[in-house]
Amino acid sequence: MLITRRSFIKKMLYSVLGFLGLSGGGYYYARYIEPDMLTTQQYTWKHPKIPEAFNQIKIVQFSDIHLGFHYSIDQFHNLIQKIKQEEADLILFTGDLVDEPQKYHFNAKIPSLLNELDAPLGKYWIYGNHDHGGYGTEKLQEVMSNGGFTLLKNEVKEITITDSSIMLAGLDDIMLGSPNIGGTLNQLKENIFSIVLVHEPDIADRVKDYHADVQLSGHSHGGQVRIPLLGSMITPPYAEKYVDGKHLISDTLTLYISRGVGTTRMPYRFLCRPEYTVYTMQSN
Ligand SMILES: [Fe+2]
Repeated sequence: MLITRRSFIKKMLYSVLGFLGLSGGGYYYARYIEPDMLTTQQYTWKHPKIPEAFNQIKIVQFSDIHLGFHYSIDQFHNLIQKIKQEEADLILFTGDLVDEPQKYHFNAKIPSLLNELDAPLGKYWIYGNHDHGGYGTEKLQEVMSNGGFTLLKNEVKEITITDSSIMLAGLDDIMLGSPNIGGTLNQLKENIFSIVLVHEPDIADRVKDYHADVQLSGHSHGGQVRIPLLGSMITPPYAEKYVDGKHLISDTLTLYISRGVGTTRMPYRFLCRPEYTVYTMQSN
């Protein structure tokens, strides 16, 4: 019998969990408990290029929801309520709203929930590989736009408070989109604080060649299942080098990777809780 990739991964997971003595209880935890243990990651950006007008500006990043793959509208509703409570100035979504757009039954609740989010400096999003996969490109654009989110597809926006600005760039998905890295990031300026949104974290090794100060990514799900000593069980392409958390890529670029909210391929999380991220800007 042919062993599919999914069943191979499952078998490997079961054997590792078994090896560690995490039988029934551990499986139940990874399948039903941890995937729902949403947590908040907090970072402060203190940087000489952050203008005084942006001091204490709060940014929320959420990523990788994968609606439809063991992730319901009710869970999405709870996520949106939590993000609302943050009262962020700027809200950023870094891709993968739906797991399989061609099979998913979209309903009007998604844009209306997205519309509940309010951020005075704007709500922006970029494509992830699952958004483009299975002819989801146009559908996702419609849903996100109806939810009040502006797509950054190889685009740069200037975010301004009174006379001061920062730059926000978004790249199209690296795996299934048409990313224009040079054409987009060449617009960034050395003296203006710049945030780059790109779904796949490993592309940071190219982003560092431009005037970018921070890169925000998702895609990895933090590995989703992390076994002590063995590390992450699943690292998708372009999330093999940088999997989770904060990485100093160069003298100027810092990469932050969200573990994301949902799951894909396997409905488990282990030592890798779902999260959204809050960044607070600090001028010197
Ligand atoms: Fe994802």
